[in-house]
Amino acid sequence: MSEIDAIKERHSVRNYTPERIQAEKIVKLNEKIRELNEAGNIHLQLIEDAGNTYNKLFNRVAGLGSAPSVIACVGPDDETLEQRIGYYGERLVLFAQTLGLNTCWAGTFNKKNIGADIRAGERIVISIAIGYGDGKGKPHKSKTMEQVIDAKGDRPYWFNKGVEMALLAPTAINQQKFLIRLNEDETVDFVDKGGVFSQVDLGIVKCHFEIGSEREVTI
Ligand SMILES: Cc1cc2nc3c(=O)[nH]c(=O)nc-3n(C[C@H](O)[C@H](O)[C@H](O)COP(=O)(O)O)c2cc1C
Repeated sequence: MSEIDAIKERHSVRNYTPERIQAEKIVKLNEKIRELNEAGNIHLQLIEDAGNTYNKLFNRVAGLGSAPSVIACVGPDDETLEQRIGYYGERLVLFAQTLGLNTCWAGTFNKKNIGADIRAGERIVISIAIGYGDGKGKPHKSKTMEQVIDAKGDRPYWFNKGVEMALLAPTAINQQKFLIRLNEDETVDFVDKGGVFSQVDLGIVKCHFEIGSEREVTI
């Protein structure tokens, strides 16, 4: 499955079957995590038994309590940590999709129960529920391309393709509070328009834009 197909097929899944992730997929996920942690200077951790990570009332209502496993998104705390977590975490989410797994980014979780290894100077930013979905989720309601871009004149194909993929990105409470600006010299700026977890969102959006446009972004 291509990354574009993974983007198109990925939707947040909040209800999971009790099936555990098979050993060979755990190995592949951990290999990918090692690679991403090195590239992004972060400390993502796959925790096979989600235990009581999602025992908060909101989680129980939403259904995440059924998630068998969870990814703890941890890293050295600095001003770019949240974007790095968004960008590299979404790379992992899309990889998981190609393995036939489903996921849901979740800012609401029990930090005490997740059982993450958080070293000196590190911070846990967010969690990602992972397992086999009881269903594949459904496409989110989306803003239009015009609502999220600032671009004058004709737009190059690669830019449109990047924005198209960015609109399929998961964002906290589906807020899509980002702006993608095409400058006259064909560089691109990503603007954070605020909101809860908006820096994580921006990292995720950059990941999708990069895949769609085939142009490298900076984090
Ligand atoms: C940073 C972030 C935090 C999120 N937190 C939660 C959460 O706490 N609980 C939840 O059920 N979904 C959460 N979500 C999932 C969003 O609600 C979901 O991505 C959005 O509605 C778009 O739907 P989609 O992912 O199916 O495309 C979060 C997503 C992101 C990106």
